Amino acid sequence: MTQELTSPSPAPQAPGTGRGPGWWRDAVIYQVYVRSFADSDGDGIGDLRGARERLPYLKDLGVDAVWLTPFYASPQADGGYDVADYRAVDPLFGTLQDADDLIRTAHDLGLRVIVDIVPNHTSDRHPWFQDPELSRQRYLFRPGKGESGELPPNDWESVFGGPAWTRTDRGDWYLHLFAPEQPDLNWDNPEVHTEFEAIMRFWLDLGVDGFRVDVAHGMIKAPGLPDIGHGAQAQLIGAQVLPFFDQDGVHAIHRAWRRLLDGYGDAHGRQVIGVAEAWAPTAERLALYVRPDELHQAFNFQFLNAPWQSDALRSVIDASLAATASVGAPTTWVLSNHDVVRHTTRLGGSLARARAATLLMLALPGSAYLYQGEELGLPEVTDLPDEVRQDPAFFRGGRATGAAGPGTDTESAPDGVAAAGGQDGFRDGCRVPLPWSGALPPYGFGPGGSWLPQPADWGGLTVAAQTGDPASTLELYRAALDLRRRLPGLGDGPMTWAPAPDGVLAFTRPGLLCTVNTLGHDVGLPAPGTPLLSSAPVTVDDATGRLPGDSCTWWAI
Ligand code: NOJ
Repeated sequence: MTQELTSPSPAPQAPGTGRGPGWWRDAVIYQVYVRSFADSDGDGIGDLRGARERLPYLKDLGVDAVWLTPFYASPQADGGYDVADYRAVDPLFGTLQDADDLIRTAHDLGLRVIVDIVPNHTSDRHPWFQDPELSRQRYLFRPGKGESGELPPNDWESVFGGPAWTRTDRGDWYLHLFAPEQPDLNWDNPEVHTEFEAIMRFWLDLGVDGFRVDVAHGMIKAPGLPDIGHGAQAQLIGAQVLPFFDQDGVHAIHRAWRRLLDGYGDAHGRQVIGVAEAWAPTAERLALYVRPDELHQAFNFQFLNAPWQSDALRSVIDASLAATASVGAPTTWVLSNHDVVRHTTRLGGSLARARAATLLMLALPGSAYLYQGEELGLPEVTDLPDEVRQDPAFFRGGRATGAAGPGTDTESAPDGVAAAGGQDGFRDGCRVPLPWSGALPPYGFGPGGSWLPQPADWGGLTVAAQTGDPASTLELYRAALDLRRRLPGLGDGPMTWAPAPDGVLAFTRPGLLCTVNTLGHDVGLPAPGTPLLSSAPVTVDDATGRLPGDSCTWWAI
């Protein structure tokens, strides 16, 4: 049931209007994984009121926008990425009024708000799927193979493990690229297009500034749903075009949505954006999603997957910048999210590397996405007992962290790095509720407990413990975001590589030179200027700068 607002509110005016240069081109966007951010009512699950109360913290951190993961009505078979009603807030997270209040408060603070939209699949509890006739038109049902249709229609595998098909009582099968509770929609049916455009307008009317498009490379399947011909398909996702992912036909949908977003923005004096969660085999194919008439941004998972080596980082940065420049889009950078092992753990269990990687990311031209808790240097939790696990992939035997997709699991990632150091390739370890204050769980997360247990040794990592400590990771993030705002052109301006010793990256940006030492030991070089900010103490002696191992420094030049 769609909830009604108790006091319907007009769409608030987001800061900034019209097309202009584009607020999103250099925005730092903070991902709030709602169920793990802040709990207001003591049920151990984060909610919209809790998130709203903490917005001043995000303002103070210095981000430009927040992205809220799905809070819609959902049986929670996949952390809310199984939506039963796209226009209602799940009671776990609050009410539509709470969403409205959150959006207003964010705008009052000068923060923009992006919400998820999940168009590849719905929940199996969605009214469309529940209706036997409608479901056959709006989802992908097929007869089975074999003498009595007892075999799946083709050999496709679910990202979460097992076949991508489930048989119904009627004897036919439906496609679900993720869990069986997430049937794939039939995007050949125009009613599906109409409905998603209406859903977008609903949230735009409530004031959101954009959408993170889940599985933006899905939706369109190759005609005839052809077999792939071999198993272990999770390993192919993001490495090649598949009959169910990154089909060219998907771009027509993004073009239609761009027209909708631009039209809505023009009519209301706002800039509203679409962000693609798309797994494409190359930076060039990913750039197709951000052509001028498609979405505004796409997550750059190639950067997230890059190993901590100067050559590899440089080539992924070059490839990303070249690909997006070819279509006039800004590049985005991301190191962590709710689907992958937190980068402190992934980069060799090294907080030093994580801090350096973050400073590198924030010095690059374009927009950056932060995942809640990375500003505290949180590690992945790697000792969760089986009985608290909730990742559907854990129960389906797929090792894929992969909900995320592809490339996030040690085995399936082309270079096997994204899940390195995680517990076992599943996604609960990066979703443990945030520690805000205090010495014991739930560390101020809320008045009750927390839906996943927090480690006993997180007392020193809380927001309260780190605030004001200049050596803390939280203060490093605050300082970097503050400088990023104050150095004109740092976000969207030019970047030029500078000479550097082996293992070190150096590049200039407007107002600074950035050095990154990816080696595990000190490296000396002629000091390029005065240190502005460093992830580890840097020294300058007789014009020689000594870069600590695994560090990044911003130099004033
Ligand atoms: C990507 C989301 O980030 C992930 O959490 C989810 O499991 C899949 N898409 C399926 O919706």
